[in-house]
Amino acid sequence: MSTAIINISSLVTNDPSLGEGPLGLIRDAAVVIDGDRIAWIGETSKAPATDNAVDAEGRAGLPGFVDSHSHLVFAGDRTAEFNARMSGRSYSAGGIRTTVAATRAATDEELEANLVRYLREALRQGTTTLETKSGYGLTTHDEARALRIAAAHTDEVTYLGAHIVAPEFADDPEAYVALVTGEMLDACAPHARWVDVFCERGAFDGDQARAVLEAGRKRGLTPRVHANQLGHGPGVQLAVEVGAASADHCTHLTDADVDALASGDTVATLLPGAEFSTRAQWPNARRLLDAGATVALSTDCNPGSSFTSSMPFCIALAVRDMGMTPDEAVLAATAGGAAALRRTDIGRLTPGARADLALLDAPSHVHLAYRPGVPLVSAVWRRGIRAL
Ligand code: NIG
Ligand code: FE
Repeated sequence: MSTAIINISSLVTNDPSLGEGPLGLIRDAAVVIDGDRIAWIGETSKAPATDNAVDAEGRAGLPGFVDSHSHLVFAGDRTAEFNARMSGRSYSAGGIRTTVAATRAATDEELEANLVRYLREALRQGTTTLETKSGYGLTTHDEARALRIAAAHTDEVTYLGAHIVAPEFADDPEAYVALVTGEMLDACAPHARWVDVFCERGAFDGDQARAVLEAGRKRGLTPRVHANQLGHGPGVQLAVEVGAASADHCTHLTDADVDALASGDTVATLLPGAEFSTRAQWPNARRLLDAGATVALSTDCNPGSSFTSSMPFCIALAVRDMGMTPDEAVLAATAGGAAALRRTDIGRLTPGARADLALLDAPSHVHLAYRPGVPLVSAVWRRGIRAL
């Protein structure tokens, strides 16, 4: 069954060979979907005959957002902590413990219902691929169940047993690292593709982080790293050294960190929702882009540091406060996220790619930044199926 979406005023393909500029923009475009894939893409006047047609009536189109960093297997809420921050308290990694207690106390059904709720919320805002992590269980049983639940509902799953040192191990962090790299890893590896670690003061230092990533790699997981969020540290350099797919946050960078990101193939994933919700300094996207690094934008959706599931909101912040142009931000939220997940079948609209796309109630993708806070996403196809 083939469907043509016609009369798209301007379509971002992210394939420069298909249209103008780095976004491969096509005017008066049409997309033909066959099954779960894109079968054809071009101008509406040249579109081939199909079984069905949907008239976009001049709306803009773009690839569905690829949110490559979220923490959605959790229970409870941290409104009180957010309120305290907005009255001047500062953010620290220790808040994670509140969510760990609530998550351990929740049933599988409660965790699953919560996850599904936020996935739907993300989809309504144009997200068609989402990565999520464990990290609020911190026991072998609770980490493995988080990953099982995540794997049942999301595309990309990351083992983050090394989010913080579990409260039971407060006096013996090395014993916790041994658990994360031993028995817990054995139970978790079958459910995940990625291994992550929060390399930060108050969480794990460079040596501990390296041990976690190397152990994960030996079990077939590919590294990604929470790096340089709250201050300078070894996270970014470590990520590049171990060949991580992504270094995430990248808020506090030295010139050497920027050079490392620009010369390796580790994507710099920026998470402006976290700086917004912790009133922290913005990551400098301009500096990374000018140095030649690949940049992704993601939500980091979690109940502590960034409780937004909205990629359009992150795009608006990146344009307003991080030195990105609207084109760069849209690229980072689609193709950038795909690069951070080492995926070539998503994040762009080309024949053979997955039919994941969104239409906006706007004449172009630039309105995502130009009209912040406005729910512009008006239709979504995911794997070729109309999902909104
Ligand atoms: O990416 N930085 C570590 N983890 C999350 C925060 C988790 C939390 O505060 O619950 C983050 O910002
Ligand atoms: Fe995170």
